[in-house]
Amino acid sequence: MSSYKAALYPGDGIGLEVTREGVKSVQAALGKVGKKMEFKEFDWGFRYWKQNGSVVPDDYLEILKDYEVVYLGALGNPADVPDHIAVAPLLQMRQSFDQYVNLRPARLWPGVDSPLKDKAPGDIDLVVVRENSEGEYFNSGALFKEGQEGETSIHTAIHTRMGIERILDYGFDLARQRSKQLTLATKSNALKHTMVMWDRILAEKAEQNKDIRVNKFHIDALCMNFVLRPEDYDVVVATNLFGDILSDLAGAIVGSLGVSPGGNLNPTKKYPSLFEPVHGSAPDIAGQGKANPIAAILTAGMMLDFMGEGEAAGLIERAVLENLTAAEVRTPDLGGSASTSGVGDDIAARIEEF
Ligand code: NAD
Ligand code: IPM
Ligand code: MN
Repeated sequence: MSSYKAALYPGDGIGLEVTREGVKSVQAALGKVGKKMEFKEFDWGFRYWKQNGSVVPDDYLEILKDYEVVYLGALGNPADVPDHIAVAPLLQMRQSFDQYVNLRPARLWPGVDSPLKDKAPGDIDLVVVRENSEGEYFNSGALFKEGQEGETSIHTAIHTRMGIERILDYGFDLARQRSKQLTLATKSNALKHTMVMWDRILAEKAEQNKDIRVNKFHIDALCMNFVLRPEDYDVVVATNLFGDILSDLAGAIVGSLGVSPGGNLNPTKKYPSLFEPVHGSAPDIAGQGKANPIAAILTAGMMLDFMGEGEAAGLIERAVLENLTAAEVRTPDLGGSASTSGVGDDIAARIEEF
């Protein structure tokens, strides 16, 4: 039986609960095609911090670098560890492993109500393609005179031609496999250095990809349109920060962040890719068995697809579709009363039965 290897980094809060369910679905789906996954689990995050005073060991990137994939739950325990320290490994992994694509599909599933009136399954089916290595997330800035009179901070966004070109190229390729439409989230009316450069490179790429319909909206108007007319969008390319914001909004309009998966991809496979749902550690519901594991389960499906196990990934997606359509076993975010493991078991059992 062929066996894959993955690093498992559950992290904090509901990350621990939802990845457990993702693992069940991975094993069930791979089992169906005569394979399995060996997960090597790391207890990094708040648990590790309590013992060691840091959220990860110094050599954690070295430890991870030989894996093809890392499956992550969520980081953050804001009551005990300052957030920018707790989530630092997430940003460091994305940059050190050059995971320049953050792929965040948002789909209104059958059986799930959108908070937007009159939106039905099929009306919302878009992918936020978030540039994941530059922008405001590039660690460039300083704080002067901390706590003193005249306290000043500066935080610089970095956008390179190489970074813009490669994420647009990825977006065009994806659009070609979907509805042949690409939208750029811009803000070139105000950000006259960076976003004007993005617009110009988009125009160059549009010339080279004439089979794809291209448009762009300023990020403020695009947020409005995601609420009013989400059916107009398919592949939406965005800078790191705009993509972060748009992906939570996309999660909201498809009914819950609890069904919003994501992957931080290094398409060259030179370094590991990192698979994690869009949501965070949700301290407000952590430890209560209320978290919806579907985002993490679909994320695991994206991971299998990335590893070339499209058939197993398809089984996960089919089981999620059945679970959601049946509308029986579901967590409170979708109006149900089932537990995290109840939903995870239901989905894994459906996979077993295929
Ligand atoms: P969050 O995504 O954790 O939660 C936002 C809201 O959505 C909460 O009300 C939460 O209960 C709900 N929610 C999220 N996931 C859910 C799920 N699977 N099922 C049901 N409800 C769900 O965002 P936040 O509250 O801003 O952040 C909490 C912590 O997570 C912070 O420390 C933050 O920095 C961190 N964070 C981490 C990641 C990550 O690791 N990728 C992403 C976002 C936030
Ligand atoms: C996300 C999160 C992270 C981000 C945080 C935790 C740093 O919100 O993955 O969307 O801003 O990228
Ligand atoms: Mn976010």
